[in-house]
Amino acid sequence: MGRAKKVVLAYSGGVDTSVCIPYLKQEWGVESVITLAADLGQGDELGPIQKKALDAGAEESLVADATQSFIEDYAFPAIQANALYENRYPLSTALARPLIAKLLVEAAERYDADAVAHGCTGKGNDQVRFDVSITALNPSLKVLAPAREWGMSREETIAYGERYGIPSPVKKSSPYSIDTNLLGRSIEAGPLEDPWNEPLEEVYALTAAIAKTPNEPEYVEIGFEKGLPTALNGKTLAPVELVRQLNQTAGRHGVGRIDMIENRLVGIKSREIYEAPALIALIAAHRDLESLTLTADVSHYKRGIEESYSQLVYNGLWYSPLKQALDAFIGQTQQRVTGVVRMKFFKGIAAPVGRKSEFSLYASDLATYGSEDAFDHKAAEGFIYVWGLPTRVWSQKLRE
Ligand code: ARG
Repeated sequence: MGRAKKVVLAYSGGVDTSVCIPYLKQEWGVESVITLAADLGQGDELGPIQKKALDAGAEESLVADATQSFIEDYAFPAIQANALYENRYPLSTALARPLIAKLLVEAAERYDADAVAHGCTGKGNDQVRFDVSITALNPSLKVLAPAREWGMSREETIAYGERYGIPSPVKKSSPYSIDTNLLGRSIEAGPLEDPWNEPLEEVYALTAAIAKTPNEPEYVEIGFEKGLPTALNGKTLAPVELVRQLNQTAGRHGVGRIDMIENRLVGIKSREIYEAPALIALIAAHRDLESLTLTADVSHYKRGIEESYSQLVYNGLWYSPLKQALDAFIGQTQQRVTGVVRMKFFKGIAAPVGRKSEFSLYASDLATYGSEDAFDHKAAEGFIYVWGLPTRVWSQKLRE
């Protein structure tokens, strides 16, 4: 008896996931492997990948077109949460994992499989995100992670694959490990493993080097409705198209490059390079619109919620009760986050330089230093007396 009879495997077309196919069958006695490749707008052609899986021994090779759901159901809620892990990483890879897990579970249920599998190793966050999400969505499915157990080096993996007709990578394979989707790219390993090494220009694909960005700034007006991006420069766009266009515009100005040492859930510090031009610009714009439309207390309280939300998404708890509760809070705060933010892209910076909203809480007659001033200056005096009272009593006591 093998570990499972029928398995749905998350498939990327790379050597590791390809080797999972014969490995599951030969070593773990799986009778049939169905692969699933998700189109998340990464721009790869999935036809050849589909064929690759069949050549490697897959019974069936599925492709799921999931770009729209990725942006609408995963990226946009994260924008409403201004989600930045450790204040910097906009979770472009992390957000894709719960969606892929959902697609795997749906396929497993449709094909009556008893397990799902993925090619993650034992050192990263992604294994946690897959395992926990799959379990949350269907606790009766087994999760198999061959690469976590097989203990083969890169060379051994390639050699194993060759025995089962999986061609070894043609070009000298890149030293980097790269994850790509419509939200951006995550790049690690190779020379980046030394945190002192500046990333070579070759790692970037979506963002221009500052030395090559235009010498004139570019302005883009981003429209939001209830915290969701809906328009660029006054033109209403579907979510996927909006992100695509903004990646171009912001990327051209070098916006969205991040070089950081991050704390993985499994206790390891890792050096990762990210580029996420649209996502970084959208979070900056969204946060700015909130500053105009949320009351001070909601805005301040939300900062803590955003921090919890970002950690939870990073740590694989997308389908958890706490996540649902945070979603409810965030959703409630977004009811009046509607308006337009004027962004200025220039030399790697995405700066909000103007904002307006029908729900603006900015009161000109209160803010002005001019003659229309409506603020009751007398009232400030009594307020400050009461506000400062505890401090005054404390200070007097010290002097007794
Ligand atoms: N560190 C990022 C995360 O945990 C990205 C992981 C994938 N990165 C990669 N280069 N393959 O979300």
